[in-house]
Amino acid sequence: MSATVIENIGLLATPMGFAARSDREQGEIRLLQDAYLCYEDGVITAVGTGKAPAVDQRIDAQSKLVTPGLIDPHTHLVFGGWRQHELAMKLKGVSYLEILAAGGGILSTVKKTRAASMEELADKAEKELRKMLRLGVTTCECKSGYGLSTEEELKMLRTVELLRSRQPVELVSTFMAAHALPQEYAEDREGYIRLIIDEMLPKVAQEHLAEFCDVFCETGVFTPEECRRILVAAQGLGLAAKCHSDEIDPIGGTEMAGSIGAVSCEHLIRCQKSGIQAMKAGGTVACLLPATSFYLGATFAPAREMIDAGVPVAFGSDFNPGSCPCSNLPLAMNIGCYRYRMTPEECLTAVTLNAAAAIHRAEKLGSLEVGKQADVLIWDAFDLDYVFYRFGDSLADTVIKNGVVVYTQH
Ligand code: NIG
Ligand code: FE
Repeated sequence: MSATVIENIGLLATPMGFAARSDREQGEIRLLQDAYLCYEDGVITAVGTGKAPAVDQRIDAQSKLVTPGLIDPHTHLVFGGWRQHELAMKLKGVSYLEILAAGGGILSTVKKTRAASMEELADKAEKELRKMLRLGVTTCECKSGYGLSTEEELKMLRTVELLRSRQPVELVSTFMAAHALPQEYAEDREGYIRLIIDEMLPKVAQEHLAEFCDVFCETGVFTPEECRRILVAAQGLGLAAKCHSDEIDPIGGTEMAGSIGAVSCEHLIRCQKSGIQAMKAGGTVACLLPATSFYLGATFAPAREMIDAGVPVAFGSDFNPGSCPCSNLPLAMNIGCYRYRMTPEECLTAVTLNAAAAIHRAEKLGSLEVGKQADVLIWDAFDLDYVFYRFGDSLADTVIKNGVVVYTQH
């Protein structure tokens, strides 16, 4: 492939580095005016200001803002059906955990996911991925967890494999059979945990179907000790650990996840000081999900305390049919900015470099610098403040994935 230059960039804004950023560094963004960016074979070869080098292929950024492509480090992308009927219950005050305990919630999505073919699941997820791409998302993590049997969990992960060949968004798989206790095991918790550890995890590892293992550590779902056993077994097979913790009740999941060196903890709405300390000690990224707090009518995670304590903060959409039926990462990012009181610069790091770190991609993705993959977003905007001010609108102008223009408004 010949060399390409993106020229006439009004403002290039990017975090810098090959690892997650926190504390003051989370808001340290490199800003270049009148910039250019060159890449060859999908890899960035030069970033500079002034006159762009003369190369064959040229993309005119028309003085607009350019950032790294957005990375969504937390979605439940593949599932059957929807759960719109839960909205009325929610509005009447029925809680998320009450709906789940009554056999609704995640378990009702499990029924619909099991009933769907791989082709049906892939078609539905592909539609959503194409929407995400048009918003500037170039990489997306996807969790299983609506199969809850060996065969059905593998079906979900194989659906992600199928989606890789069908559309340009880069997909990263996470195995999450510990998302709920399936009805068949309602009276045998230990049996289900053993099934995950003894049968599912070895198969997932052997077939290289996931890089990460996640668990739902919550009142009425899985305890910190159960989650620890599953995650340590996963680590032993080469899968890195993630943990949904402190979403509703702070029962010690974050403390446990930090202590085993989990790569990220998810939600963290009710995270305590001890959880923040554990993440700091474990080198764990705090993956916050602002649109979920918004939709659940919950409070917002203590993001500022995390950043100040030296824990890197990333944002994900948490797209799923229950607690966040919205795949719009830029909207989540803007809600995060307003409700966590994080600056646009800190939020940009949260959806690029820190999001990359939460999925072990910080060496390759998440910033615009020499050696990184050319995943680039040209915005229909001229500065960062404008992007954060215009919430709810799609401001992606052109999306470049691995050096290829995969979406453009023109
Ligand atoms: O991250 N909390 C657990 N899992 C999802 C919700 C899944 C569902 O309700 O279907 C979440 O919010
Ligand atoms: Fe989630």
